[in-house]
Amino acid sequence: MIADRVNKIGVSETMMISAEAKKLKAEGHDVINLSMGETDFPTPNNIKEAGKRAVDENHSFYTINSGTIELRTAIAAKLKRDNHLDYKLNEIIVSSGAKQSVYNAILATVNPGQEVIVPAPYWVSYPAMVELAQGKSVVIQTDDTSGFKITPDQLSRAITSKTKVLILCNPSNPTGSAYNKNELLEIAKVCQQENFYIIADEIYEKMVYDDFEFFSFATVAPELRERIILVNGISKSYAMTGWRIGYTAANEHVVQGMNKIQSHTTSHPSSISQSAAIEAVAGPQYVVNEMLAAFRKRREYLYNELTSIDGVTCYKPEGAFYLFPNISAYLHTHTKVLKIDSSFDFVMHLLYEAHIATVPGSAFGAEGYLRISYATSMENLKEAVLRMKAALKKLR
Ligand SMILES: Cc1ncc(COP(=O)(O)O)c(C=O)c1O
Repeated sequence: MIADRVNKIGVSETMMISAEAKKLKAEGHDVINLSMGETDFPTPNNIKEAGKRAVDENHSFYTINSGTIELRTAIAAKLKRDNHLDYKLNEIIVSSGAKQSVYNAILATVNPGQEVIVPAPYWVSYPAMVELAQGKSVVIQTDDTSGFKITPDQLSRAITSKTKVLILCNPSNPTGSAYNKNELLEIAKVCQQENFYIIADEIYEKMVYDDFEFFSFATVAPELRERIILVNGISKSYAMTGWRIGYTAANEHVVQGMNKIQSHTTSHPSSISQSAAIEAVAGPQYVVNEMLAAFRKRREYLYNELTSIDGVTCYKPEGAFYLFPNISAYLHTHTKVLKIDSSFDFVMHLLYEAHIATVPGSAFGAEGYLRISYATSMENLKEAVLRMKAALKKLR
């Protein structure tokens, strides 16, 4: 009785692992969760205060469907300040999380049967969203030898007369890999030759390390402005995953299309969250740097430890808060009870043997890898590394 579209999107492996981890926890085991896509920090105080003020001042009514004028003005100022981009208010729409921004952007642009180019490893939701829009995902496979980045040549070969959208997630979930300015310029050159939209998902913009300099795709390729659908949000940068605010900057026709869809589905995001979001994007930005300092230390620690394990290699990613080590040397090994033939089996071994929850590369279209989030305390990371090393010694 359930609609076909539901069956087509399958059950998320992440949810299965998370359910298993919860079960173990409920049985009294000390499970360390390295599978989450959110920071472990609370929302900064100034932002919380803005949210509280919004409640006290009765910001409890419907707002404009595309987001309040105040918030869109703050977002326009942010895009100017951080990315040197000029967007008018009617070119910006606020949604209930960047997830809804991406979904609405796909729904507003992709007709049934049209193709969406999705570089893999991909964020799990992209292919599911394309499927729901009755589009077709065309996956470009990348691996650690190219830093998980697509080459201009790979992109050229993936383009057909049916291509409607390219999704460019930069920095990437799940790999943390990020394109530098030159790499973006090369991709832009290929995009100029054909006519399709580029959804630039830049939600991890603020999370970059070492001397890496982030550039928005729209900044690097102003000639593609009309075709770039820039998605960003406050969930990751300001530790606000639960507040559900994401936004899109694009040409006004795309924004109008997204606005129509949003008006008939969820309407605007929470009025209280919108008020708090103004403080996030327009308020003091040192709060981001405080979190980044912690992430920097954790990334360094985890990277060094993982790469010291026999058979594990890891691309050192430029951004986000994930590592994506290559564990393929452990495939086709076994314990006394379990055969390890896939990254899913490997994750299950870590879960049952070491009580560590991670996510298999297969969930992101990349078998042989593991996604580990370091958005948890250093203490947890140290314990997880000890347990992981012991668990891997049991594989034959
Ligand atoms: C690449 C990417 N885009 C978008 C999102 C959605 O973020 P939000 O929580 O704002 O919906 C996520 C969250 O995991 C993400 O990793």
